[in-house]
Amino acid sequence: MPPTLKPVIIFAEKKDLDPAKLVRLYQQAPWAKGRTLHDAREMLRHTDIAVTAWDSDLLIGFGRVLTDYVYRATIWDVIVDKAYQGQGIGSNIVQRILNHPRLKKIELFWLCTSRPGFYEKLGFSSKEQTGMVWSRTNHSRLE
Ligand SMILES: CC(C)(COP(=O)(O)OP(=O)(O)OC[C@H]1O[C@@H](n2cnc3c(N)ncnc32)[C@H](O)[C@@H]1OP(=O)(O)O)[C@@H](O)C(=O)NCCC(=O)NCCS
Repeated sequence: MPPTLKPVIIFAEKKDLDPAKLVRLYQQAPWAKGRTLHDAREMLRHTDIAVTAWDSDLLIGFGRVLTDYVYRATIWDVIVDKAYQGQGIGSNIVQRILNHPRLKKIELFWLCTSRPGFYEKLGFSSKEQTGMVWSRTNHSRLE
């Protein structure tokens, strides 16, 4: 039996991608399931920086940033295709964001996560600041 070849994963900063490829990835995360093609297209248009990971033309990893390029940057939607998890792709995406040349001046990167373990390994800490969220979904339920 010939050895199975590992796929070559290509990372690229890319916002002009087919939103359908991103929606396919979104289906794999509980917090992004149900996001629509229309909204994903609109979101990509207004996102400052997006880092993508590709196996050929299959989008298998994604992460994005909203920023003022000086003081603050927030990281959103870090997601890796289930079939490709545990190979360092998620870490690579976050590192590419933290080391991005246009984000060199940023004092503080901020994110909101239900997976603190993953980000702690990358040097993020929840001790210094408290994040708070206002959720439209929760408020609609209360009304
Ligand atoms: C979280 C996620 C992006 C990690 O991607 P990945 O490519 O599998 O992560 P990596 O292979 O780079 O893992 C890096 C390290 O984090 C750990 N890790 C990965 N997922 C983790 C999790 N959910 N909780 C705790 N630790 C995790 C790995 O064990 C690994 O540790 P090691 O370096 O000691 O081996 C991926 O699991 C995912 O897409 N999950 C669903 C979407 C999601 O929850 N995204 C989080 C954004 S809020």
